[in-house]
Amino acid sequence: MELELRGITKRFPGVVANDNVNLTIRSGEVLALVGENGAGKSTLMNILYGLYHADEGDIYIDGTPVKFETSGDAIAAGIGMVHQHFMLVPVFTVAENVVLGIEPTRGLSLDRAKAAAEVERISDEYSLGLEPDALIENLPVGIQQRVEISKVLLRDAEIVVFDEPTAVLTPQEIDDFFRIVEALKASGRGIVFITHKLTEALRVADRISVLRRGQTVGEADPSEIDEVGLAELMVGRPVQLVVDKSPAEPGASTLQVNDLHVVDASGRTLVDHTTFDVRAGEIVGIAGVQGNGQTELVEAITGLREILSGTVSVDGIDLTDASPRDVHLAAVAHVPEDRQRSGLVSEFSVAENLVLTRYHSDEFSSGVTMNWSRVRENARELVEQYDVRTPSIDTSAGTLSGGNQQKVIVARELSRDLRLVIASQPTRGVDVGSIEYIHAQVVAARDEGAAVMVVSTELDEVMALADRVIVLYRGRVVADLDRDATNHNEVGLYMAGALDQNEQASA
Ligand SMILES: Nc1ncnc2c1ncn2[C@@H]1O[C@H](COP(=O)(O)OP(=O)(O)OP(=O)(O)O)[C@@H](O)[C@H]1O
Ligand SMILES: [Mg+2]
Repeated sequence: MELELRGITKRFPGVVANDNVNLTIRSGEVLALVGENGAGKSTLMNILYGLYHADEGDIYIDGTPVKFETSGDAIAAGIGMVHQHFMLVPVFTVAENVVLGIEPTRGLSLDRAKAAAEVERISDEYSLGLEPDALIENLPVGIQQRVEISKVLLRDAEIVVFDEPTAVLTPQEIDDFFRIVEALKASGRGIVFITHKLTEALRVADRISVLRRGQTVGEADPSEIDEVGLAELMVGRPVQLVVDKSPAEPGASTLQVNDLHVVDASGRTLVDHTTFDVRAGEIVGIAGVQGNGQTELVEAITGLREILSGTVSVDGIDLTDASPRDVHLAAVAHVPEDRQRSGLVSEFSVAENLVLTRYHSDEFSSGVTMNWSRVRENARELVEQYDVRTPSIDTSAGTLSGGNQQKVIVARELSRDLRLVIASQPTRGVDVGSIEYIHAQVVAARDEGAAVMVVSTELDEVMALADRVIVLYRGRVVADLDRDATNHNEVGLYMAGALDQNEQASA
């Protein structure tokens, strides 16, 4: 099958998201779609999937024009899509979710037993490792994604679109995902793969198509271009892919976490008697395979999760069991891991979101009246500095592209005087050009004397930013290493539980 998008234009208020875009997708090949945040990648794929309607342009299948009024039409034509935010019901089983996914209009009615058998068949065929009776909420993200993939395969999709599928996966899950992509390709399907990780595009794609500001700016052959070249093609200028920083000059201990213990509702240990500190003027990277207590550690420090025992303090101020507001007032910035849940209010404007945690401060209000001109000035400055691609500062934040939403949060959190910065997955979904800027801002916060803690499942990001690396394994600190005295390989061994400094010390 050959799917062709011809002259696609899509306008939203104040922005041309797709501007006369041409794109061809063929069976049996992987097409990577890359481009800056807001370039129009998701919009284009949503048009292909019948979720949005193009203002101009047409879609052709094997030379015949087609019209997709709804995603049901696209599915019937053999197009499947795996969104970044999965559309699964957490309290249902794998098989139940798969049944739910089948439109009754297709006349394909599946009962539960049949669904379970079908899931098993597809799981075997593509080595998905799915158990039909498992509850979605108990499954890791990587497996949930495979449930979405099995839904798409059950509907006989010939072209499968993945919108940033690897952003939420661990390195191990990413390897597994690529194996599945190879199997889909070998079965004759066509794959569209959106990613900001250029090495991934170079690794799996047969062709790479680059969008910039709504237009196709070029196509690249992965065997003829490298990461540096691709970054430049994407952003339109050379991009610094390594972090530029001087050696740290750590001062006094700022964040002190002492014997911290956190359990879940059923009493299971999440953070296990953890002790460490972060000093002013240093960046501590927290490495670990997802699910080893990083999320809960950050939640406990920032007042979002109950602490069973132990203490947290910042500059000697006790913040054990403080509220998120107390933590904020102690000059602590928090870039949350999940921007959809705790970072932005989508209905509020970009300008409002940029002062969300500070609207009551003297800077933006006097008594009960907001100083709107100051709020707007702040927004204009930050939008410019962080290169937030938005039609205006009054646009509601929820309509921004994923990466631009992330930039709004990072801009808000880093743009005040800070003692401590806690950044979880600070560049998730962000394009290479903006990663360069965000990393520079994190280093700048350090150089102005803040203590910085960066939590990332991307080991590359931890190693690039950190002056010191702490590895969490099953809720415990198993390594505390000077960045310059260690390497990816050693940190990887600690992450996998193969090494443990506690045992070395007592042995
Ligand atoms: N539903 C919407 N309403 C208004 N504007 C929108 C909507 N969806 C997208 N846009 C705008 O269209 C442009 C393209 O957005 P899109 O989400 O397609 O970008 P993207 O390339 O996927 O970016 P990212 O890499 O950040 O995900 C952006 O300027 C965005 O603000
Ligand atoms: Mg997108």
